[in-house]
This record gives sequence, C-alpha cells and structure tokens, in this order.
Amino acid sequence: MAAAHAFRDLYGYEPEGVWTAPGRVNLIGEHTDYNDGFVLPFALPQRTAVAAARRADRTLRLHSADVPSGPVVLDLAGLDPAHAPHGDDGWAAYPAGVAWALLDAGLPVGGADLHIGSDVPTGAGLSSSAALEVATALALTELYEMPLTRPELAALARRAENAYVGVPCGVMDQMASACAIEGRALHLDTRTLEQRHLPFDCAAAGLRLLVIDTRVKHALADGAYARRRSDCHQAAAALGLTALRDLPHTELDKALGRLDDPVLRRRVRHVVTENERVARVGELLRAGRLRETGPLLTEGHVSLRDDYEVSCPELDLAVATAQAAGAYGSRMTGGGFGGSALALIDADAEAEVTRAVRAAFRAAGHLPPHITAAAPAAGAGRLL
Ligand code: GLA
Repeated sequence: MAAAHAFRDLYGYEPEGVWTAPGRVNLIGEHTDYNDGFVLPFALPQRTAVAAARRADRTLRLHSADVPSGPVVLDLAGLDPAHAPHGDDGWAAYPAGVAWALLDAGLPVGGADLHIGSDVPTGAGLSSSAALEVATALALTELYEMPLTRPELAALARRAENAYVGVPCGVMDQMASACAIEGRALHLDTRTLEQRHLPFDCAAAGLRLLVIDTRVKHALADGAYARRRSDCHQAAAALGLTALRDLPHTELDKALGRLDDPVLRRRVRHVVTENERVARVGELLRAGRLRETGPLLTEGHVSLRDDYEVSCPELDLAVATAQAAGAYGSRMTGGGFGGSALALIDADAEAEVTRAVRAAFRAAGHLPPHITAAAPAAGAGRLL
C-alpha cells in the first residue's frame, strides 16, 4: 500500500493504520448548503489516503507526497487559527486545522505522525480539501479512540476549514466525503443532516456522467463566495426568515415582490428554485428515471449562470458544447468560477462528447480539459 510504504520510508517505522476519504461531485443543489437547504452529491473514486501513528509527545508531523520538502512540524499546544501554516506549507493548515478543531471541542487528541497522498485533483472543484480534512479526522479520531458519528466527523472537518483555514464553506463536501455509500447519491438536508442514499446507477441505464475539469480557477472565487453568502443572509433577514431554505417554492413570487434589490431577487430565485430541483431530481432517482434528470441539471446551470452569477466562460462552453453534442443535461458543479462541469450522456456518446468539448476548448484557446466518467464511490473508511 503506497501510503504505508511512504510512511515507513519517511519516518522509519510502521504506521498504525491507513485511512482514506474521497472527493465529490454534486449532482444538483449548488449554493444551497449555507442556506440550510438541500444537496445531492456523491463520492468520487479519487481519494486522499492518510497513513498515521500516534506519538508519545504533543508533536504533529505532517507530510504530503506532493510536496518535496520534509514534514511540517507543529506543537499541538501552539495550534492557533491566527498562525495557521501558510505559503508553501498552506496545505498543512487542513490537517492541522482538524487537530485544532478536535482540541477545541475538548477531545483528547495527542501527537501523531501523518503521511498524506492523494489522487483527488486540487483546484478542480472536486473537494480535495474536504477529502484531506475527513481522512485526517477519521485517522486521528480512530487512533485516539474518539467514537464520533460520521455527521459529527463532517461537522468537525468543516469547522477546521471555516475557523482554522478561513474558508467559509457549507457542510456539503465534508458530509459527502464522510457519509457517501458506493452506488448511491447522498440526498442531504443540510439543516437537520438527515440523509437519504438514493440509487444512481448510470451504467445500468446505459448512461455516463462525465466530469469535465476545465482546469481554471478564477481569482475572484473566494471573495465572491463570501459575498454570495452574505447576499443570501441579507435577503433572508429582509424576508424575516431564519434561512432561505424556509421560503417555499410556492411563495417565491410573493417574496420576490417584497425585495427591492434586483441582485438579491436573483440570488433568492436561484436558491429557492435550486432546492426545488434537488427535490425533483431526488424523486426521479428514487424512481430510476435517470435520463429525465437531464433538463433539471441544465436548468440548474442556467440559474447559476444568470441568477447566481458564479459560472465562467470555460464552464459555459463545456455545458453548451456537451448539450450540442447530445447530452441530456449539463451543469457546473461545486462553487463555480472555474472547476468542473457535469454532463449526463448516453454511454455510447462518450467519445463524441469528449471530442467535441476538447475541440471547442482548443478553438477558444483554453487549456485542454480533463474529462473522466464518474460513478458513486464509497465514503471515508479505514484501509489498513
Ligand atoms: C463549495 C463549498 C460547499 C458549497 C459549494 C456550492 O464546494 O465548499 O460548501 O457551498 O461550494 O454548492
């Protein structure tokens, strides 16, 4: 096992175990999680592996296979969000943040040596951060025998990202990585964390779900994400709601009439219609009518592009080209401003759609996209 070998080569002794956690794609339900809404992600086969062992002292040594320099060495007592690893060591803020979140929750975590390897692409909108956080959280909680439930583990991983790394994400990515089941998509209520594992078997339906990684991440992504969150909170407050999740689809037009700001009206329309799309896609999956989800996926993209304004030319080109080449539906997935798009296609159209998207990107002068087919894989677990 690669992670265990690398651990032994680096630290000179055997790890106590190897834990892995996957990246994710989100089928539908974008920018709804921080509005207490609904999401429908599934886990990817790409995973982050953490080989780990306890130490007798309070030292944390963190090493990544992707970074040529030696381990980042931290003292548990000195972990502080104001002084998180940064620059070349910025990746170490994710596992260090998990240790910090455990300590902050009063849990008895001690020192540890970690070696981290991953085949989840970074910057592709496929949640490499959540995979790293959840794999680390599972490793540390099992090594130190802290029996957390999977939703508790996900909440802790999210807290590490929000409060230690400083990224104001919702809980979708960590829940998908921690709780997903092979062959199923996770229908999640992000307020109650109630989960339904719905069948999503493209192969059985003669379909494929392509993941088109545009390989771009636009610089405005982080600030724009935080602004979308505050737009939503402002709109909810103006409407007298705890969160936009509390606005039923049937009340949408009336509520829009009560908002003066056209930007806030568009944000609200996206969130409310997107929650409705999650419900409808969920019904179709339950009924095994996968192909019919296509138009809802495309509607979701249009809403993210025009009302939520989080798409970008590369994502729009991927979606439009996939559609023109015969996709049943296509949409950006994840936070937006780059990253990946999904396309639901006939299995035997894979070569044609892939060729068409590559050609369109070449013609537009974009980087060649990375295109793979995805099926739901298992959530986090212990490998060794
Ligand atoms: C990012 C965040 C998630 C979610 C999506 C948008 O992936 O990490 O919490 O908000 O964007 O749906």
